[in-house]
Amino acid sequence: MEKLKLSSKIFLDGGNPEETKEVKNLLGFIDGQTTNPTLITQNPEVRERIEKRGKFNKKEAYLFYKDVIGKIAKITSGPISIEVYADKNTKAGEMLREAKEMVKWIPNAYIKLPITKEGLKAARLATREAIPLNLTLCFSQEQAAAVYTATKGAKKPVFVSPFIGRLDDRGKNGMNLVENILKMYQKGDDHVLCLTASVRNLNHLLWAIKIGSPLITVPFKIIKEWAKKNFILPDKNFVYNPSNLKLVPYQEISLDKDWSDYNINHDLTDIGIKRFCADWKAIIK
Ligand code: E4P
Repeated sequence: MEKLKLSSKIFLDGGNPEETKEVKNLLGFIDGQTTNPTLITQNPEVRERIEKRGKFNKKEAYLFYKDVIGKIAKITSGPISIEVYADKNTKAGEMLREAKEMVKWIPNAYIKLPITKEGLKAARLATREAIPLNLTLCFSQEQAAAVYTATKGAKKPVFVSPFIGRLDDRGKNGMNLVENILKMYQKGDDHVLCLTASVRNLNHLLWAIKIGSPLITVPFKIIKEWAKKNFILPDKNFVYNPSNLKLVPYQEISLDKDWSDYNINHDLTDIGIKRFCADWKAIIK
């Protein structure tokens, strides 16, 4: 297949290297991958291992994650996001310690930190240490602004991951958040790139392409659906139909404040952290 002409980079959202291989075959390329604790626990080898030998201990689970990342890195040299374990009590120092370990796993590692006070503190410190970052569980424009100022001076582009599907689940138009972040970042220096995440359907993907999200992470299922449709691209008439989802209005937010002066609280971020931790703990004895 001729390489798709896209201005967005397409990542796979998943924790199974077999899928990475298949996506590379289907698309003819793969620009990178995102993982998270939930996706890693959904890797079919986890179930097999638990059936045969019982749950992992902490170290084994960590080594399993490392092994999966190593396998993915053999398939793509693009950025591969690896998420630190962070619950509501995890301090910035602990996240930084984990980030420093994980970044050594592969040459193309991007470390995922949650957009919380401690996560942003860790991001500030990690930026000074030149650790490539993906700030995750983004549900508001203000959080994206805080990511921007917390990571100023980063040596590599920083990613921020707005979670579209989870906002949609709440009856809000998640795609608006991507539009708003892209608009707000036009005032900036381009050191943070919007990585559209929590993509749940083909229209999310097509609209993210159409509005120029520089990065989009897509689950295997949707890539297969896209393949069945011969990788259609949005034409000039394509418009995203949010049906009855509520508009998320654009806010005029300055990118000049200190990161700690933004209101970064969002209950979906807290719920997301809890869910990642619960899924990860469920595979550990
Ligand atoms: C990727 O970085 C995100 O963790 C992922 O897209 C979340 O997707 P979900 O909301 O479907 O769990």
